[in-house]
Amino acid sequence: MLGQLTWDAIPLNEPIAFITSLVVIFAVVAILGIVTIKGLWPYLWREWITSVDHKRIGIMYSILGLVMLLRGFSDAILMRSHLAFAAGEGQGYLPPDHYNQIFTAHGAIMIFFVAMPLVIGLMNFVVPLQLGVRDVAFPTLNSVSFWLSASGALLINLSLFVGNFARTGWLVYPPLSELKFSPDVGVDYYLWAVQISGIGTLISAVNLVTTILKLRRPE
Ligand code: HEM
Repeated sequence: MLGQLTWDAIPLNEPIAFITSLVVIFAVVAILGIVTIKGLWPYLWREWITSVDHKRIGIMYSILGLVMLLRGFSDAILMRSHLAFAAGEGQGYLPPDHYNQIFTAHGAIMIFFVAMPLVIGLMNFVVPLQLGVRDVAFPTLNSVSFWLSASGALLINLSLFVGNFARTGWLVYPPLSELKFSPDVGVDYYLWAVQISGIGTLISAVNLVTTILKLRRPE
């Protein structure tokens, strides 16, 4: 039923990835538990998750960008500290394969899931206000865009617990990204995460351009 997915995909013998996975899973379960105990689901569902309000979507984009900034920052800390330990005669503490994954994840996350959500979040918040209109041209599509971006972000983070991430650098240049040199699931994670969030970003761009061209008052 699970196709090629086997226990080998779980990083059981890579302590850094495995312990990080456990900590993140624990934190997510704790947050979901607190939300459930406090009975916040109906409010979150009604007012935020299904909201098509441009300000709320802008705020959710910004929160997504800031949460992913934490992830990208922890990758950066791992890389810088590894390089510091590796200076001179040192070997550092990350296996080369893991370093390359962190390097790629840092670049991809910082560009696609930090910089872009923060900019799109700000535009979502201010563009309709600047134009003096009630919302963007296609409010429901705006919500779809955000959730596509969030799904891409979720997928990229999943590679920490299941399988691995690309080792190609964030631009994923061939031939390094071809099957011959990247035979496992790493590049697939990159492609799907960037494509899914990319569709969201594309729809957002169409939405914002349409809003600016069609909803501003005539000259
Ligand atoms: C928070 C402080 C940050 C630190 C300490 C940091 C550190 C690093 C390090 C050590 C590398 C690897 C460089 C190398 O070995 O050649 C790197 C690569 C990179 N960083 Fe950062 N970074 C930070 C923030 C950011 C931010 C805010 C962005 C973008 C919004 C960013 C985007 C990138 C990109 C695109 C790469 C290249 C990755 C690749 O080629 O695959 N970084 N960073």
